[in-house]
Amino acid sequence: MNDTFSIAIDGPAGAGKSTMAKALAKALDAMYLDTGAMYRAFGLAMLRQGVDIHDHDAVAAKADAVNIDVNYVDGGQHIYLDGDDVTGAIRSPEVSEAASAISAVAEVRTRMVALQRQIAAGHDVVMDGRDIGTAVLPNATLKVYLTASAEERARRRCVELEEKGMPQPYEQVLADMKERDYRDMNREASPLRAAEDAVTLDTSELNLEQSIQALLKLAAGAGIAG
Ligand code: DC
Repeated sequence: MNDTFSIAIDGPAGAGKSTMAKALAKALDAMYLDTGAMYRAFGLAMLRQGVDIHDHDAVAAKADAVNIDVNYVDGGQHIYLDGDDVTGAIRSPEVSEAASAISAVAEVRTRMVALQRQIAAGHDVVMDGRDIGTAVLPNATLKVYLTASAEERARRRCVELEEKGMPQPYEQVLADMKERDYRDMNREASPLRAAEDAVTLDTSELNLEQSIQALLKLAAGAGIAG
């Protein structure tokens, strides 16, 4: 018997996955798990330990040796590296780059997928990432592939970086985003793609409220009530 539900939200960087998954989890009283934060924490661990993020073998050798924990403070997800709260530190452009590089390493993915399943077990959950519908939760109650044009995603990411006091020029953000899309979609281990049974939601023309309403409608359609 299975009386919990799970919602998988995948898509490229900057599509609004975390904002929307968080809002959806709140509306449905479910746990929210931002899996990108876990890859970011792993990437930060490699930077701190001086491991070359482009050396697959060196990164793979660390796959089981990094201590990542997730905890919830006032409903917000906090992420810890060896007990150190790195929730803020993982948002820098250097860590984005490191996370993208280390997420191509199969051994790292195997470890992260196991951790993610362990954290979510027994809970109603909304998880966002790149491989949730295809690898982490293949039997999810609802799978959504959330996307938007690269230009719109870069624009949103610029606003977010500005708000965090880390402004970056738009052209730079757009170029980084396209490069990251390419890497995420073309890596051998679990490349980013929509699961066959995922519903694609393009939010290029939708504001936040409209996007959340669209997601709630999809959830209701899958038998998940708020
Ligand atoms: O969603 P994000 O930007 O925080 O993700 C950081 C990196 O981690 C991104 O380059 C893709 C990778 N990632 C992944 O490969 N699989 C996931 N489930 C989540 C993120």
